[in-house]
Amino acid sequence: MTAIELQIDRVSKAFRTGRGQIGALQDISLEVAEGELVCLVGPSGCGKSTLLSVVAGLEPPDAGQVILDGQPVQGPGPERILIFQDGGLFPWLTVLENVTFGLRERGLPLEERRQRAMEVLRLVHLERFKDAYIHELSGGMRQRVAIARGLVLSPRILLMDEPFAALDTQTRDLLVEELRGLHEELKNTILFVTHHVREAVYLADRVVLFTFQPGRIKHIYPLEVPRPRDPDDPSLEALVREIVEALHVEVERALNEEYRRA
Ligand SMILES: Nc1ncnc2c1ncn2[C@@H]1O[C@H](COP(=O)(O)OP(=O)(O)OP(=O)(O)O)[C@@H](O)[C@H]1O
Ligand SMILES: [Mg+2]
Repeated sequence: MTAIELQIDRVSKAFRTGRGQIGALQDISLEVAEGELVCLVGPSGCGKSTLLSVVAGLEPPDAGQVILDGQPVQGPGPERILIFQDGGLFPWLTVLENVTFGLRERGLPLEERRQRAMEVLRLVHLERFKDAYIHELSGGMRQRVAIARGLVLSPRILLMDEPFAALDTQTRDLLVEELRGLHEELKNTILFVTHHVREAVYLADRVVLFTFQPGRIKHIYPLEVPRPRDPDDPSLEALVREIVEALHVEVERALNEEYRRA
């Protein structure tokens, strides 16, 4: 039995807005084991990004806590890295400089920074592009630089917020496959938010489905199928259908609520 690394313990979070209070998260409890890959799915506005921000320590919860190795999370830390859709790369730096950037604060000597950056660039197959500037790269390559920039810090937990959402399907499939390989090799714990149920079922140890406002856990689907998985495996297909149906119920609720408020 693998050790529990991350405990999300009865976390709630609401936002006060001009249109009243929004219950982003309500009473979310989830234990994540070391090296586990958990995918979070749910309708837009159900609190997935909020949960990642709380785990990253960027937003304090209103109630509950996040516990890492038995210690409550008080703020951001280098062992938890958030990677989001627009990778937030620096256009005035090269690929290599973008990746080494985060290491500067750690006071590592230049040569060691470069060496570590090159190692992770190799992992994401971008070593040949180390001297390119961001505008010279495709969207998929940019996202791989963003992942490399996170990985170079050797985080234990990767918090990925729809990192492939802006990519075309083919590039996306490629990066999903690459992420699977990275996870197999590095065994980081990963919380991965996606709208693609098929992708979630392909990647995850567990898929967590959220309800729409207040964002609660509606159901957790464990996946026992060994990796690498065959995307055409009928048992996966059946689970995809089941999750998509449950998700549709929440998406409908989200739309009705939005139209009612408009
Ligand atoms: N800083 C904020 N101030 C006010 N409201 C916020 C803030 N952050 C999030 N919210 C609201 O909280 C709810 C949950 O937002 P969140 O971004 O976590 O949803 P999400 O599940 O990530 O949605 P999406 O799938 O569209 O990315 C939304 O209604 C959003 O408008
Ligand atoms: Mg979001």
